[in-house]
Amino acid sequence: MDKLIIKGGKKLEGTVKISGAKNAALPILAATILCPGKHLIRNVPDLRDVNTMKSLLQNLGSGVDVRDSVAVVESDGFKKHEAPYELVKTMRASVVILGPLLARLGKARVSLPGGCAIGARPINLHLMALEKMGAEISLDSGYVLGRVGRLKGTDIYLDIPTVTGTENILMAAVLAKGITRIDNAAMEPEVVDLANALISMGADIRGAGERVIEIKGVDELRPLDYTVIPDRIEAGTFMTAAAVTRGNILLENCRVDHLDAIMKKLEETGVQFEHAGNGVAVKMSSRPESRDIKTMHYPGFPTDMQAQFMALMSIAGGTSSIIETIFENRYMHVAELRRFGADIRVEGHTATVRGVGSLKGAPVMATDLRASASLVVAALCAEGESVIDRVYHIDRGYEGIEKKLTGLGADIMRIKG
Ligand code: EPZ
Repeated sequence: MDKLIIKGGKKLEGTVKISGAKNAALPILAATILCPGKHLIRNVPDLRDVNTMKSLLQNLGSGVDVRDSVAVVESDGFKKHEAPYELVKTMRASVVILGPLLARLGKARVSLPGGCAIGARPINLHLMALEKMGAEISLDSGYVLGRVGRLKGTDIYLDIPTVTGTENILMAAVLAKGITRIDNAAMEPEVVDLANALISMGADIRGAGERVIEIKGVDELRPLDYTVIPDRIEAGTFMTAAAVTRGNILLENCRVDHLDAIMKKLEETGVQFEHAGNGVAVKMSSRPESRDIKTMHYPGFPTDMQAQFMALMSIAGGTSSIIETIFENRYMHVAELRRFGADIRVEGHTATVRGVGSLKGAPVMATDLRASASLVVAALCAEGESVIDRVYHIDRGYEGIEKKLTGLGADIMRIKG
């Protein structure tokens, strides 16, 4: 397993280009299942998770080539309708092929994702919705089996605004017979990006990004030619990295309109922003001030930025309270941050972070994608050297992390494991 060696204390300065959004690229790649032909998807990030989605589509029978951030997918015919456990267990988002498979083929056999480090993460709402649309859903030795003639439009209320659940329903509904209304839909920018990609294929979707989305089924779609939005979580992660090192960086190619909650909260801690063309300049000249956060569904403060913000608060002047409301176990990074000398106490869903003057470099281990990002942020400001093990977690969601950080002046090196 690869490791990252980071010598902390360097101010980050310079320009970094934000890559395409992982959580938009994955469902948009899955959308190529919906119609035959040659699909073109631009601004696709080079990530482990994208490679996993590529393998899933190839396993079905699609031709997939991803190079220089452009994915070319040919989905004329399928020899299989299955997402095998060995792929799904490495990426839960694989579940988003369920909806498009049922819409295009009327059958699907997708491994249950199984739990993960941050929580049980059931898919009951996905399955409830697809059953309401007429699919016969059954479970068999760890797999979801789905069969249907043609899905039918219906009204669906989601108890929780599940992101991939909303995406599965969107992709099931675009070829269904009749109208589907999703109430309490997820409003994340990645859901909107998928909806826009589907509309570019000829889908009839209204209200994406709002609480109620209405989809009028059509009989056929045309191949994609679409550009994925920039990754707001990668952008937020680099903002916290600049903040902890009291740096001054320019983020190129990022959508500040997707970063409202993150930027407002970082401003409260003392970070200064200046809009610059298609990006934003980020500057921090003092010790961060402690602030509280509570993770919420979009447009609230995103759970995917909770760990990175905690790393920033660990050196802030004062005490901050962090409440994680989306996942039941998203504090795996706390024990590792403590190894840097952070003073953090967790009770239930609340982490209390008492800021310390400085962190000390230490050997630590990544446990999940965003936890590993928080360890990198902490190591960048810790005194001395840190070694971060199990770096494959970070490679799932951050394209060329050490190259980008080196470009900003960080002292970081990857040791191939
Ligand atoms: C998406 O996961 C993202 N992944 C996650 O990003 C993100 O943290 C999450 O949304 C929340 O914003 C992708 O888009 C690929 P949910 P998803 O369904 O869709 C419960 C990252 O770091 N729930 O919105 O799996 C669930 O247990 C990843 O990039 C049910 O109970 O999340 C959770 O507590 C991590 N039943 C809550 O809803 C269901 O059927 C939100 O989950 C579905 C979800």
